[in-house]
Formats: sequence, structure tokens, C-alpha cells
Amino acid sequence: MTIDLNSRYGLNPAHSEVVEACKVIEPCDTLDMGCSNGRNALYLGQLGFNVNAIDINAGAIDTLQSIIDQEKITNIKTQVLDINSANLGAGNVNHYGFISCTVTLMFINPANVDAIIADMHKRTLPGGYNLIVCAMSTEQNPCPVPFPFTLQTEQLREAYAGWKLIKYNEDVGTMHNGAKLQFATMLARKPS
Ligand SMILES: C[S@@+](CC[C@H](N)C(=O)[O-])C[C@H]1O[C@@H](n2cnc3c(N)ncnc32)[C@H](O)[C@@H]1O
Repeated sequence: MTIDLNSRYGLNPAHSEVVEACKVIEPCDTLDMGCSNGRNALYLGQLGFNVNAIDINAGAIDTLQSIIDQEKITNIKTQVLDINSANLGAGNVNHYGFISCTVTLMFINPANVDAIIADMHKRTLPGGYNLIVCAMSTEQNPCPVPFPFTLQTEQLREAYAGWKLIKYNEDVGTMHNGAKLQFATMLARKPS
């Protein structure tokens, strides 16, 4: 029986889009971009994915590493890494079957986003998957949160031209204070 490590260590459950993606993607080498303290990495690791978990926040990486050490987990590696470098060569794996980037891209310097997505493309194996969930700001729904970066309408779809879009939406949600917040959600598969 699988132990729910997220509950054991007081972490939120994995992002719902990561859970959904795992219904499609077989365990493989995976990069978790902006892993924070590991809610998605721990979930993926328990399903048998080999995860490189990267984040700029050394404290969050320390928290995840201490869970890994306590649980003697062998298939999750951590690294403090600034995604702005647009060089996602974390750990000893350089190409991935799955790159997951949930609610992280909007904290990135806008000047680097194209290069980062290009690097994600380059590091994805043929037939591999990218998952991106990122805030948007549009004329109808200006982003109420001052994120450094937000996506425009159809920007993410255009960045993945030639990939198979398993899922793509630009849904509008409502925050606790009633403000509207639009997100792009995309699971895309690179051609084999
Ligand atoms: C809202 S959290 C999302 C965490 C996780 N992906 C999830 O779904 O719960 C955003 C994360 O991105 C990380 N982050 C922000 N800027 C970064 C950068 N330049 N390089 C790497 N990680 C970064 C933050 O430290 C934070 O852990």
C-alpha cells in the first residue's frame, strides 16, 4: 500500500493537473520546475517517476531533501537552480520524458521565458510531455496579482506549435476575494 507522504509531512496534495497528467504518462525521467517543498515530486516519486526537483529557494529544497532522507527515497534528486538561466540541465539527467512546470512560470523574468520554453523543448525526449500551468493577463481579464510574467491569449499554444496538445484551456477562475484570475493549462506531447 502507498503511504501518503504529502499528508505525513503536512504538504498539500499534488497539483490536480499533475495528478491528471499521471493518468496519461507512464513513469519516466521527470523534471519538476519550481518544485517548492515537493508536493508534486513526492507524488510522482511514489508512482515510480525518477524526478529531478529544482527550485531557486534553498529552504524549500532543504525541506524536500530532509523528507527524501527520512524516507530513504532513491528516485527524487533535488537541486537549487535558477530557472532564469534557461539551462535546465539539472542533476545527471539531461533529457526527460516529462517536464512539469505548475504555477512557476509567472515568477520568471519575462525576458527569459522564450529561452526557457525553448530549453524545455530541447530537453524533452521524442514522444515526451510538457505540463505548464501559468497565470494569464488579457484585456477581458487583467491579472489582479502583480506576477512578473503572465501569458497572453493563445501564447502558450503558439509556443507549442507542432506538438500534440493533449489538453489546452485558458479558463477563468475566481479567487477567494472574488477577483477573476485566468490560467493557461497545457499538457503537450512532443512528436516522436
Ligand atoms: C507557487 S510555487 C509552485 C510550486 C509547485 N510547482 C506547485 O505546483 O506546488 C512557485 C515556485 O517557483 C519557485 N521559483 C520562483 N522563481 C524561480 C526561479 N527563477 N527558478 C527556480 N524556481 C523558482 C518558487 O521558489 C516556488 O517554489
